[in-house]
Amino acid sequence: MSEILKIDSVSKHFGGLMAINDVSFSINEGETLGLMGPNGAGKTTLVNMVTGKYLADSGNIQFMGHDITRMPAYRRCKLGISRTYQIPRPFPELTALMSVVVSALYGKDRANQSLEDAATEATHYLEFCGLFSKRNVLGKDLTLYELRGLELARALATTPKLIFVDEVMAGLNPGEAYKAVRLLERAKEEFGVTILWIEHVMAALMQAAQRVVVLHYGQKICEGLPQDVANDPYVIECYLGSCHV
Ligand SMILES: Nc1ncnc2c1ncn2[C@@H]1O[C@H](COP(=O)(O)OP(=O)(O)O)[C@@H](O)[C@H]1O
Ligand SMILES: [Mg+2]
Repeated sequence: MSEILKIDSVSKHFGGLMAINDVSFSINEGETLGLMGPNGAGKTTLVNMVTGKYLADSGNIQFMGHDITRMPAYRRCKLGISRTYQIPRPFPELTALMSVVVSALYGKDRANQSLEDAATEATHYLEFCGLFSKRNVLGKDLTLYELRGLELARALATTPKLIFVDEVMAGLNPGEAYKAVRLLERAKEEFGVTILWIEHVMAALMQAAQRVVVLHYGQKICEGLPQDVANDPYVIECYLGSCHV
C-alpha cells in the first residue's frame, strides 16, 4: 500500500487560536480516510492547507513524492488534488454545465483542448452526478442538494487522484444524504480516486471509511479502524462535550 499524501507536523494559527496544532497522518492510495471531529476542531483548516487555500505555519506536506507545502493552489490542482466545499461555492451566473467546463479546462495542462471537448467531458461528469437535466440551470438557481452534486462534478472534472470531501451530508435530509454517500462510493469505483472524507457525524463514516482520524481543538486525538475509534473512551468523551485537551 503506497502513501499518496503525507502530512507531517503541520500547524496553523489564526491570531491567538491554534486551529491546527502539530498534526501528522498519511493517506494510502485507493483508501477512504475519514476525518472526524466536533465543529471547530480544525477539519476545514486542514483541508485548506493541503489544497493551498492557506499556507501552513510549519510542518511539511508531501503529495505523490512532491513537496507541496508552499505550492500555490492551482499547481496542487494540476498535480491531482481536488476538493468540494462544505458551503457550496457555485459560479452564480454560470450554468451548471459551464461551471464544470471551467474545471475540465482548468484542472490539467490542456492547452490544446477545445471548448467542445471540454463540454463533452463536463456533460459526462454532470450525468454521473445526476445533474444532466439541470445542465442549463444557473448556479444561483440550484438547490443545496444539487449544488453538492455540482461541487463533486466540478471536483471530478479536474481528473484528481485525491479528493477532499468536506461535510457532504450537512443540511441534507436523510434520503438526500444517503444518495450523496452512494455517489461518493460510485465515484471511487468509477474514477479510482482516493478520498479524504470529512464529517462531524460519526455514524456516517463508520461504514464508508477504512480508517478514521479524529481532530479535537486542532490536535489529532485518535487514529485507527472505524470500530476502534468509535469505541475509544476519549473520542466518546470529546463527542459528548466533556473533555479538554
Ligand atoms: N480564516 C479564519 N480566520 C480566523 N479563524 C478561523 C479561520 N478559519 C477557521 N478559523 C477558526 O479555526 C477553528 C477551526 O475551524 P475549522 O477548521 O473551520 O473547523 P471545522 O471544519 O472542524 O469545523 C475555529 O475556531 C474557527 O473559528
Ligand atoms: Mg468545517
